[in-house]
Amino acid sequence: MESKMTEFRDKVVYQIYPKSFQDSDGDGIGDLRGIIRRLDYLKDLGVDYLWLTPVFISPQNDNGYDVADYRRIDPRYGTMADMEELISESRKRGMGIMLDMVFNHTSTSHEWFQRALAGEKEYQDYYIFKEESPEKMPTNWVSKFGGPVWEYVPGLGKWYLHLFDVTQADLNWENPRVREELKDVLRFWKAKGIQGFRFDVVNLISKPEVWEDDFEGDGRRFYSDGPKVHEYLKELVRDADIGDCVTVGEMSSTTLKNCVGYSNPDEQELSMCFHFHHLKVDYKDGNKWELMEPDYRRLKELFREWQEGMQIGNGWSALFLCNHDQPRTVSRFGDEGRYWKQSAMMLAGMIHLMRGTPYVYQGEEIGMTNPHFASIEQYRDVESLNYYQILREQGKSGVEALEVLAARSRDNGRSPMQWNGEKNGGFSDGAPWIPMADNAETIHVQSQMGDSESVLTFYKKLITLRKEMKIISEGTICFLEEADDRVIAYRRNLGEEELLVYGNLSGTVRTVSEMFSSGGYQKILGNYKEEPEMTDGRLTLRPYELVVMYR
Ligand code: GLC
Repeated sequence: MESKMTEFRDKVVYQIYPKSFQDSDGDGIGDLRGIIRRLDYLKDLGVDYLWLTPVFISPQNDNGYDVADYRRIDPRYGTMADMEELISESRKRGMGIMLDMVFNHTSTSHEWFQRALAGEKEYQDYYIFKEESPEKMPTNWVSKFGGPVWEYVPGLGKWYLHLFDVTQADLNWENPRVREELKDVLRFWKAKGIQGFRFDVVNLISKPEVWEDDFEGDGRRFYSDGPKVHEYLKELVRDADIGDCVTVGEMSSTTLKNCVGYSNPDEQELSMCFHFHHLKVDYKDGNKWELMEPDYRRLKELFREWQEGMQIGNGWSALFLCNHDQPRTVSRFGDEGRYWKQSAMMLAGMIHLMRGTPYVYQGEEIGMTNPHFASIEQYRDVESLNYYQILREQGKSGVEALEVLAARSRDNGRSPMQWNGEKNGGFSDGAPWIPMADNAETIHVQSQMGDSESVLTFYKKLITLRKEMKIISEGTICFLEEADDRVIAYRRNLGEEELLVYGNLSGTVRTVSEMFSSGGYQKILGNYKEEPEMTDGRLTLRPYELVVMYR
């Protein structure tokens, strides 16, 4: 089992947000046939798995994370035949498809919920309904998208729980029938040839036994990494027989100890975890909607803590700096201007060479930036639209609220893929469902293909390197250079081999404090043509420079 459960370690996953990847029929919404059209591009990039965010039947209140039928493809994205073709065409090119399983909740349009509403007790048990008077919510918890987590159903005289949108009702995992239904969904997709699964907010599935108010926070401490979560995951993986698939759990507000449990192969739960602490270093007092420059010291501490901690516990991390819920990496931690290219490459190298499995989010490989939306009409995301209102109510002006969204909205990662300099970046012949980024005409795949110095070529190098050098997938990691907040540095070791990675997280020159014994090292990768600079035996890094040495 150990080998099956760890054989993904030299692989790279590419995340596709189908709605914004490639439209094939001119309706402005990306689709499965569009993905099929781009498979050669993905093959050429060198990635092993394609994770698709949900393409199932859905009212799309949360862009598909509100699933109404786990076994059918939403017609906006295509048909089951298209999915089957995508699976087989990917397989021909040596790539596996990973599907996104949203098992913490369903859409309220799901048949189960509809039957619950119609009064069928059996289906009410599929969800978390609480009997309370209409004036009193069962708890005071706050939804992840703003507002309360409870919604009252007058016809039933009951409240139901929704940790996310009001149309995303939380499933009751205590009910064995629910667990059986979900295992069946996995079997269904595995039989179709799906080779991996991403489990949406899966550490929220086990709810507390006692329902109490939270006077310190929004309630998350009661339901994150809940009492039976490990038990449920073991059961799911075992019974659905997906131990030979690559699996990743999205862990919300989790702990290191739990992530070790989720991903240590001996536990037979998941292959790896997404954890997000490093993507909160620019939240002021933990508040996503308060702008702050990234705290680079904290960023470095978190990488050290999680990388070394997961290593000690033999856990495994998904390595990522962005996804469909996050702003673009280069806009957030790099430089969109003068050092756009260097910073995009440095951030890529820094994350890819750590211990874990790298995820490339569509467009990241060409250094896509935030789209710079300037009016509320350009936004689509339910969270962004809710928070715009909340920020206004809190007294922010329209301009101020837009400034926050321009940095923090999930739509920053959802503007369409930029393929070429043609209309709508080659994404669609029709009007895209969400506007293109303002730099779509200059930053695109076509202009970077075949350019040996492009961001795209750099990603290809990184992916190739992982396949060629075992030290990247299997070596140990140890962090270096504590002194300078703006220099991230670590060492990888495997047997006699050693790999050193230095990244400058700033637009100014930095001198590494440790003396560098140049003995036998050779630079194997960097984002400047010139050789690394040394000042009195110390490595001096140019703005956003990345230096990778090997011996
Ligand atoms: C995850 C998804 C996000 C979605 C939420 C609720 O965080 O990545 O897009 O809104 O779960 O399903």
